[in-house]
Amino acid sequence: MRIILLGAPGSGKGTVAEALRSACGFPKVSTGDLLREAVREKTPLGLVAAAQMGKGGLVDDATVLALLRERLAREDCRDGYVLDGFPRNLAQAGSLDALGLSGPEIVFDLRVSDQVVLERLASRRSCPRCEAIYHLVNKPPKKAGFCDVCGTALVQRADDTPEVIKERLKTYHAQTEPLVARYAAKGYLHRIDGDAPAGTVLRDVRRALDAALGRREGAGS
Ligand code: AP5
Ligand code: MG
Repeated sequence: MRIILLGAPGSGKGTVAEALRSACGFPKVSTGDLLREAVREKTPLGLVAAAQMGKGGLVDDATVLALLRERLAREDCRDGYVLDGFPRNLAQAGSLDALGLSGPEIVFDLRVSDQVVLERLASRRSCPRCEAIYHLVNKPPKKAGFCDVCGTALVQRADDTPEVIKERLKTYHAQTEPLVARYAAKGYLHRIDGDAPAGTVLRDVRRALDAALGRREGAGS
């Protein structure tokens, strides 16, 4: 089974993916996390990716697809996974279809207003080691400034500046948002009010997921 999370920067993709990992056991596969790891490790790929990420644009499709393929080949993805941040344009969606899948594919579109995005990202803090996500008000760490999971000092992401956020939003509206219509036409898109509090968003996602799986099992029996 493949769960795809579509949504603008700050819409809560990482937060929902982590909640689904913890509730359902599906690994979170985030192309943003994979790219940041490459940047941290200063791999040749990471050095190229850093330039694009710093401008708020997309890293080239071939690079991201290579990282994704490698991640999906790991054992933990065998029975299903949650995709956070892939696909991000029509070409990537085509590549994902070509990878094939046994089991259902379910797509969530986390709808948020640009204003909410700006507020959330200004107060987001992230763990540079394990990529755990915090918010100074909505989800503060237990010990201020440090990751609950691994104790590392939290940081603001390099691309969470007002200028880069503006560019990321432009990129999202131009290249990623058209995927909503693509998946709606296929009939397995669920629209979620991403402006709602995190608990409500997670409840809505779980309900839609359970309903979709129940319907498919019913149809198959
Ligand atoms: P990526 O890391 O995917 O960044 P993004 O899409 O901009 O999304 P974010 O991670 O900023 O936000 P999110 O939706 O995960 O929200 P979060 O849960 O953290 O990609 C980074 C860059 O890598 C891209 O710009 C691009 O350059 C490159 N890249 C990545 N994938 C690529 C691809 N496939 N192709 C090419 N290039 C690619 O939540 C945000 C904050 O809000 C947190 O503080 C959280 O605690 C809080 N919060 C979450 N939900 C709620 C809620 N419901 N209510 C209140 N607060 C909430
Ligand atoms: Mg994220």
